[in-house]
Amino acid sequence: MSKPVILVPGAIYEHVVKRVEADFELLRVDSADLSLLDETQKVSIRGIASAIHLPNDFIAGLPSLEIIAHFGVGYDVIDAKFAGEHNIMVCNTPDVLSEEVADTTIGLLLNTLRELPKAEAHLRRGDWVNKGNYRLTPLTLRNRIVGIYGLGRIGQEIATRLEGFGVGIHYHTRTKKNGVSYQYHETLLDMANAVDTLISIVPGTPATTKSIDTEILAALGSNGVFINVGRGSVVDEDALIKALENKSLAAAGLDVFENEPDPRKDFLSLENVSLLPHVASASVHTRNAMGDLQVDNLVNWFGGKSPISPVPETAHILTK
Ligand code: DGY
Repeated sequence: MSKPVILVPGAIYEHVVKRVEADFELLRVDSADLSLLDETQKVSIRGIASAIHLPNDFIAGLPSLEIIAHFGVGYDVIDAKFAGEHNIMVCNTPDVLSEEVADTTIGLLLNTLRELPKAEAHLRRGDWVNKGNYRLTPLTLRNRIVGIYGLGRIGQEIATRLEGFGVGIHYHTRTKKNGVSYQYHETLLDMANAVDTLISIVPGTPATTKSIDTEILAALGSNGVFINVGRGSVVDEDALIKALENKSLAAAGLDVFENEPDPRKDFLSLENVSLLPHVASASVHTRNAMGDLQVDNLVNWFGGKSPISPVPETAHILTK
């Protein structure tokens, strides 16, 4: 029997390509563009393994498509509701990256507060020996109260790590979590008023778009620090840049941006930001685990079993 055809549109982690090739017939194109496929190919494609935006017309233009296995926990690049309405399963890669992302979040928080990348650059430039010690950092994690926006699996890992730092921990989610002792806030604004450090780990959805705005940033105060490891779309970047420029917000640590991989140039010239190129989950260990989960979802599906990590919008779809 012939193997199911799996399309990989656009760039993907090489480990995924090897795994797909081992179990399926791999078809690759440069982007999610129907004009790159002939009619026979379009009809042959039963699954997609991707990490990029898939337009709805692309999804709808593949008549035999059964499943989209996305690489990443955030799947804002796919309209999962639309896929579900077309009886197409969508899977993501949760859990396997939670600890890595939480580790990176703590690193970014410390980099932002204690300016560790700048202190290292000082040493590397020869400034330590030629000019003297790196400056004492005006910011510290000591005595901070941290608010976590989104207490899902990654948010909880971040909170667990923060416990070890002896800081206050608050959280905001749509509904209060059972069995969680951190201080809950019904609204993001209530939490922003109660904390001086905001960590955002919510997914990019219509409900979270630009939810971190001028008012929220102002509520953090002039000692306030904002860390974003969720999605850039969650922040009003104009408001953030303005707050950082006029120092109504002390600093920000950003791993994600509205426009990736080409963030607003304003961020690059600001002194009070620590920037990372969306690397929160980017270790070989964790990316392999994500790739394995992505392909295991396809293996299960085409083996007649339930996928391991269907997204809620399509979890109702029966296995084929
Ligand atoms: C995800 O999986 O959504 C992360 O942003 C990747 O680092």
